[in-house]
Amino acid sequence: MMKQELMEPETIKKPETKKQKVSITDLPGVGAATAEKLMAVGYSDLMSIAVATPAELIDSTGMTDALAKKIIAVARSSLDMGFETGEDYLKRRERVDKITTGSKDFDTLLGGGLETGAIVECFGEFGSGKTQLGHALAVNTQLLKNEKNPVAVYIDTENTFRPERIKQIAQGLGLDPSKVLKSIKVAKAYNSDHQMLLAEKIEDLIKSQELNVKTVIVDSLTAHFRAEFIGRGTLADRQQKLNRHMHVLLKLADMYNLCVYVTNQVMAKPDMFFGDPTQAIGGHIVAHASTFRVYLRKGKKGSRVAKLVDSPNLPEGEASFYVETSGLKDIK
Ligand code: GTP
Ligand code: MG
Repeated sequence: MMKQELMEPETIKKPETKKQKVSITDLPGVGAATAEKLMAVGYSDLMSIAVATPAELIDSTGMTDALAKKIIAVARSSLDMGFETGEDYLKRRERVDKITTGSKDFDTLLGGGLETGAIVECFGEFGSGKTQLGHALAVNTQLLKNEKNPVAVYIDTENTFRPERIKQIAQGLGLDPSKVLKSIKVAKAYNSDHQMLLAEKIEDLIKSQELNVKTVIVDSLTAHFRAEFIGRGTLADRQQKLNRHMHVLLKLADMYNLCVYVTNQVMAKPDMFFGDPTQAIGGHIVAHASTFRVYLRKGKKGSRVAKLVDSPNLPEGEASFYVETSGLKDIK
């Protein structure tokens, strides 16, 4: 506080406004055509270029090695690469809100619900409840106490979004179903590029339409990527694109203090003889970018079991619940 009062406000503000104005078309050697190519493959802002490797930029645009290195360097130097004090960080943590799953036990496993400012990944076999949790979250976003007109964005890649389910879950909570439906923005993604573009458009929704987006659901995160990139030759390309997609989602979570919920299928691991022979799609790219990772499986008597496999500050553990017409419920 003291320090700021002593400084000339001019000297503090100037570099910041200059930094904010730089966009990818301001980078040296990047004309309209190159900018368009970069945008088309998801490099829509300076941060995405600052964290890219030269090889990634060359692959996607055909630019020269020298230019790729140069624009990465310029992007890096024109960005605040984000150190903040522990105190500022704590202040941001204090803003973190929790969205309930509907089940107290499941919430407890997650430290009170799904956190805003984070990516929560749920992976599990078909019918394990990933989509049902997505629907529950879209509705339960309305239960956030400190938010005015909270909105959930649902990116549906498998054509499994059902407004009827939203109505049922809303009714179960005593909420007005049509009001809840109005608070959810749904978009179908037809392929992985479309999916990436939709994720990038969320920022526009927040800015230009002034929507208070608190939850972003991507169901499924990996299905299109998995279907489009078959065979080993293209695995690196797939991971690179997925990485960029995760980066966009993480930035949204961080900048707008919203919760990103992504679902992920599992594949059989035939060489595994002990434990659970399944593995999440997307490998370390998705695992690494997710703040919380939950493994869902079918349990006894039609129940579902959630296992927390990765979290920054919570112990590993399990919780059981039922998927019911009115949402996710505790086992009594
Ligand atoms: P994939 O997308 O195929 O990988 O599966 P998923 O994990 O998304 O499964 P999903 O969330 O679609 O779970 C489907 C299960 O939820 C069904 O098998 C039902 O058991 C349960 N379910 C879905 N709708 C209802 C409902 O209205 N009432 C009840 N009681 N259960 C439901
Ligand atoms: Mg599903």
